[in-house]
Amino acid sequence: MTIPTDIANTIVDPTAYADGDRVDRAFAQLRREAPLEMAQPDGFDPFWVVTRHADILEVERQNALFHNGDRATVVTTIEADKKVREMMGGSPHLVRSLVQMDNPDHFAYRKITQGALLPQNLRALEARIREIARGFIDRMAEHGDRCDFARDVAFLYPLHVIMEVLGVPEADEPRMLKLTQELFGNADPELNRAGKSMTDVDEGIASLQSVVMDFMMYFNAITEDRRAKPREDLASLIANGKIDGEPMGHLEAMSYYIIAATAGHDTTSSTTAGALWALAENPDQFARVKADPSLIPGLVEESIRWVTPVKHFMRTATADAELAGRKIAKGDWMMLSYPSGNRDEAVFEDPFTFRADRTPNKHVAFGYGAHVCLGQHLARMEMRVLWEELLARLDKVELDGTPTRMVANFVCGPKSVPIRFKMH
Ligand code: HEM
Repeated sequence: MTIPTDIANTIVDPTAYADGDRVDRAFAQLRREAPLEMAQPDGFDPFWVVTRHADILEVERQNALFHNGDRATVVTTIEADKKVREMMGGSPHLVRSLVQMDNPDHFAYRKITQGALLPQNLRALEARIREIARGFIDRMAEHGDRCDFARDVAFLYPLHVIMEVLGVPEADEPRMLKLTQELFGNADPELNRAGKSMTDVDEGIASLQSVVMDFMMYFNAITEDRRAKPREDLASLIANGKIDGEPMGHLEAMSYYIIAATAGHDTTSSTTAGALWALAENPDQFARVKADPSLIPGLVEESIRWVTPVKHFMRTATADAELAGRKIAKGDWMMLSYPSGNRDEAVFEDPFTFRADRTPNKHVAFGYGAHVCLGQHLARMEMRVLWEELLARLDKVELDGTPTRMVANFVCGPKSVPIRFKMH
């Protein structure tokens, strides 16, 4: 059996993710009727859709059997894949970051920044992050009683934090935000570089490629600067990082910056915007976390589960394998659906209800295993600090219009969250 074409088309359709319900319904049906099955949406090669929490963990745990880099890491049409391979000398990837690597490279490259992002090393940053959070909350108060929480706060605060950690000057933040939105929002006519619906494959790939080139040009200059004058920032670690005693390759270094400068804020911004949206719709939850700040770490976890800003990653089987009783063949492509894993009824009670006090909350939004999100501790810390500061001042919040989501099927979340609020 293969997944019915309408469902297969839905789970790769950027507009279904913008709709929210449409994609949730498709995955709920798959979990019930075909939890691990082959899909072949129009224009795509077939791939397994891994919808259950347990199966996602099982694939991620076996990183030698299920590779990241052998085929595209993000679901891609046959035509787009062909185009990228033509441009990249046979490689299915436009960049070569940790996400596209497997061992031994993955381990060696990950080691370069891993230490800096561990909780014990991030602790020294907490006071500064709190100061940044307070600055954004003051700016929110200056809006009076209405703002677009996504655009006015949630997109800007994690951006500022990661750019400071990375070492990008504040003046360049609007450029980094625009490039990130153009990259992840390539299917969104309001966000992509062309400013229109992207139906032509050549145009779509050219647009992505030009965004990647702009990032590379920018970070090339940063590399030269940090090689000459290293500082205490992530950019210096990348610029001076060595693999087997040699400086890392140019494509690898550029890709390292790009993933930190994009995944390092867009995900956290989406989660923060989605959390306030959920609190505005659930005044009982808002009242509870406001009255009891010890619930804030739970609010953070639940908002990460709720939004799940990374919608999928692909894996490729390196050998014939068995998963949940199904035979996976060497070379098979597999979609790990994080939003589906995070709504899995077998793991989460009332998965479609937002509960700040959900315990346990073993979501898979950060992935799992060797590739588990490198920035998870930073993301958690900056969101906890923001809520500690914001909930202390925010007395009332409600939606002031209908929020919207980005049109995308990879990394995405709310685009606009208009609110009316009272602060002191
Ligand atoms: C990888 C989610 C924030 C940097 C990942 C993966 C997911 C993810 C699902 C893939 C994991 C896997 O394949 O198992 C998220 C979410 C975030 C977030 C939900 C916020 C709520 C951040 C931040 C940074 C970051 C703040 C900044 C440093 C990375 C990097 C990788 C990664 C470098 C690649 C790791 C590897 O392949 O070894 N993230 N992320 N992420 N994330 Fe995050």
